[in-house]
Amino acid sequence: APPPLTDAFGRTVSYLRLSVTDRCDLRCTYCMAEHMTFLPKKDLLSLEELETVAAAFIRRGVRKIRITGGEPLVRKDIGELFDRLGRYMGAGLDELTLTTNATLLAAHAERLYKAGVRRVNVSLDTLDPAMFREITRLGDLQKSLDGIEAAKQAGLKVKINTVALKHQNAGEIPSMVEWAHGQGFDMTLIEVMPLGLTGEDRVDQYVPLFEIRDQLEQRWTLTDEAANDAQAGPSRYVRIAETGGRLGFITPLTNNFCAGCNRVRVTCTGRIYMCLGQDDHVDLRAALRDSMVPEFALDEALDKALLRKPERHEFAIRKRGEAPALPRHMSTTGG
Ligand code: GTP
Ligand code: 5AD
Ligand code: SF4
Repeated sequence: APPPLTDAFGRTVSYLRLSVTDRCDLRCTYCMAEHMTFLPKKDLLSLEELETVAAAFIRRGVRKIRITGGEPLVRKDIGELFDRLGRYMGAGLDELTLTTNATLLAAHAERLYKAGVRRVNVSLDTLDPAMFREITRLGDLQKSLDGIEAAKQAGLKVKINTVALKHQNAGEIPSMVEWAHGQGFDMTLIEVMPLGLTGEDRVDQYVPLFEIRDQLEQRWTLTDEAANDAQAGPSRYVRIAETGGRLGFITPLTNNFCAGCNRVRVTCTGRIYMCLGQDDHVDLRAALRDSMVPEFALDEALDKALLRKPERHEFAIRKRGEAPALPRHMSTTGG
């Protein structure tokens, strides 16, 4: 069998985050600017190319693929992509999933389930309609809630992802946890990362998650889950006795998790980024489009990329007016 994707620090990549579009129907203030210029469609990988890339990673031992964006469900042929990738389930792939804002989930939930998706992560930062509009600039809370409900009805397991925002949702997090756990959903809190200009200063948004954890511990009993295995990814989970639910913490700013990194990202134009917090990348699209034997060229590109995977990201939020660590927006790399 072809060699696994093991990097210079002994970490093995078993998880691919594959972005299918840089577009989104929302403009979350920590993610995008109000006015964004999106890529021309011809720059995007086609369905066939996306499948070829996925297959190359699967041959090299990737067991989990998460489709990301932008918002993956705004891409027209997305149902077909899930149908195609679903055929690898049980034939190399253990999990096919996506991260979505749920605005279009009601229309897609059943087809996703049929294709083999069993779990979706939904980005939702507030349950207050006015706050939802403020944070997403364009969103309608009810549409996302309808999408979440449809996913549940279709048999999909839902995890809610919430970026903690100082003057916006920070005080609301206990009631969101109560709601999510009441619905039977896991939930993960995320520290805002300085990626791309958005028109907001991250100094005004950033809350360290230990503050939120303290707040939750005043009401509830949090028990750390038995040490996750060494390469479980960034989230550290607790169980909350009173709600019976699981809560994850993703703490790029306050508690580095990179030793357990198990993932790489491919953008919708076919760039492989070895780390969310780094600009270095390798162009898979060139390998795909310019080679006589794309499979061979892809393998070579993967080997080259892997050697360049850095030990850790260096995100920091320091002072007002400071430029983001990286110019590209989160929507380019898919979170
Ligand atoms: P699970 O499969 O449920 O474990 O999901 P996940 O946490 O791998 O994926 P998800 O798309 O839900 O990730 C949530 C958010 O966590 C992302 O949008 C990022 O903001 C952040 N995140 C995920 N992986 C990384 C990472 O490798 N580095 C950093 N810095 N942040 C990450
Ligand atoms: N910092 C942290 N998380 C972010 N996301 C988008 N931008 C940022 C950022 N700057 C998250 C969203 C969603 C996922 C796609 O990325 O909340 O969960
Ligand atoms: Fe769209 Fe997600 Fe970015 Fe919000 S965080 S603008 S929903 S891609």
